[in-house]
Amino acid sequence: MVCLGNICRSPLAEGILKQKAKDAGLNWEVDSAGTYGGHAGEKPDRRSRKVAEENSIDISKQRSRQFNGYDFEQFDIIYAMDKSNELDLLRLAKDDAEKAKVKMIMNELEPSEDIAVPDPYYGEYGFENVYKMLDLACDKIIEKYGK
Ligand code: 4NP
Repeated sequence: MVCLGNICRSPLAEGILKQKAKDAGLNWEVDSAGTYGGHAGEKPDRRSRKVAEENSIDISKQRSRQFNGYDFEQFDIIYAMDKSNELDLLRLAKDDAEKAKVKMIMNELEPSEDIAVPDPYYGEYGFENVYKMLDLACDKIIEKYGK
């Protein structure tokens, strides 16, 4: 799960998918990172921790880290939250096989629509809405790949 800072959106996506995978009895490795490393080592944003907690998901132990090339080898699917994250990831991919791992997360629900999970950092778009979008997307991911 990849966003810009790895403190708002992708920590929520990681927490939500981890919980759903666990509930479904799936032994998946789920992680998150940011394309920008400026928040590395920080806890998720207080507002993300709050909305997670309200939904019984604990993301407080997560720490921000920057996405790196090894992640392309480690993971089967790399979900970008928005187009800018997707373009950054595609630039980092070293070949077509790595590029093929990059997907916009909301395309799981609305294929090819390239709907963004909006950046809530500056407060115009609520964390609750981000949570709801990611919750629906993660349900779809479990339904699609959790066989
Ligand atoms: P995120 O939100 O990408 O969802 O973690 C942001 C976090 C930090 C910044 C921007 C977006 N920033 O500019 O520092």
